[in-house]
Amino acid sequence: MPAGTRSSAERVNAERLSADITALGRFGATDRGGVNRPVYSPADLAARGWLADRCAEAGLGFRTDAIGNCFITLPGSDPNRARVWTGSHIDTVPDGGRLDGAFGVLAGLECLRTLAAADDDFRPSATVEVVAFADEEGAYASFVGSRALVDGWTVDALSALTGRDGEPLADGLARIGSSIEAAAEVPTITAAAGAGRGAVAAFVELHIEQGPVLENAGLDIGVVTDIVEVGHGTVTFLGQADHAGTTPMELRRDATRAAGAFLVGLPSVPAEHGSPAAVATCGMVSVEPGAANIVVEEMRLSLDVRDRAGGVPSLQAGVADLARRCSADHGLDHRLEWDSVTPGVALDPDMGQRVADAADRIGASHHRMVSGAGHDSQVMARAVPTGMIFVPSENGRSHSPAESTSLAQLEIGANVLLEVLRDLAS
Ligand code: GLV
Ligand code: MN
Ligand code: MN
Repeated sequence: MPAGTRSSAERVNAERLSADITALGRFGATDRGGVNRPVYSPADLAARGWLADRCAEAGLGFRTDAIGNCFITLPGSDPNRARVWTGSHIDTVPDGGRLDGAFGVLAGLECLRTLAAADDDFRPSATVEVVAFADEEGAYASFVGSRALVDGWTVDALSALTGRDGEPLADGLARIGSSIEAAAEVPTITAAAGAGRGAVAAFVELHIEQGPVLENAGLDIGVVTDIVEVGHGTVTFLGQADHAGTTPMELRRDATRAAGAFLVGLPSVPAEHGSPAAVATCGMVSVEPGAANIVVEEMRLSLDVRDRAGGVPSLQAGVADLARRCSADHGLDHRLEWDSVTPGVALDPDMGQRVADAADRIGASHHRMVSGAGHDSQVMARAVPTGMIFVPSENGRSHSPAESTSLAQLEIGANVLLEVLRDLAS
């Protein structure tokens, strides 16, 4: 082969990537055509087993840490170089799509297979790893796996986490053969860097956009510059349980009245307290005691508020004011709790330039943009130079079985990732 000419393994194998997406989508497949694969669920465990088999087949390393992050490894020729990381997540929201997270992990796997097949001159000198972060979707808490790697968790903090159905995190960890104590010992990458081994040089995440911007602009690739700040919490309106047949309407302390008024008012909060990018969502409601013939004593509403970096406190203040007014108007009490605020971040400009240059090299059109969705990248960016690559989402649909991107667009995204990994690791 003439000097400077790349081996046959210059581009990813799109058919193999497509087959992997279809195969992984079978774990947790729902009747509506979506995927239900929360972290540590039987479907997630089966998916991990499938992924490990694909790695063994390709001669790639595979390991899982004590919190459930999976690592796929292609060793570099220079063991002294810091590792290059890519990846995303394989857990899904309830009845989500096949691509959110899974695409980034499977495209990473495909890139490693492609790099492994390259001639020696083009094999990376840095070790390249694909990370499938545990619980990106927050079944227990947002970004459980990436926070373990960047901040570390204490035993107390992990012990306080419960799943959407109230299951303690310890029970989920037991299903992967781990425990709270072991999960609290997962070494952070910052500590590894300090110790001079296991350091991570950079992280790049490939993901579907999950919104309509790229499709509307007719572009191939989004170069992500910033990720929004996200606040998660719960507001609970507190009334009194009474007989639904014998309690006169004017004597009831019905929690649904304040909660209903709150839900009507919530869409005004971003407009009044946020930037034009601000959003507020209640995606889960529950009532206690929960019977058709009992006036509701407690109504809990989940809260998800997002805005540009630094914008969430103002949205939280708006939510607090609305909750106060709604409970006062109906003579009720309420409790407002914020579980987490994941800070908005600016991603690394140099990584963004590498993504843009990679897109140029393969002739892909691109555009710099802000991510309205949360990603492990916003946690990773606190520890290492981080970049993100978006591909278009059909009709902007995501967190739904309707999630879709053409194979041609997925292939372009995977090849941009391959170029960025080569650039970082060679
Ligand atoms: C992750 O999907 C999020 O943005 O909530
Ligand atoms: Mn998601
Ligand atoms: Mn995702």
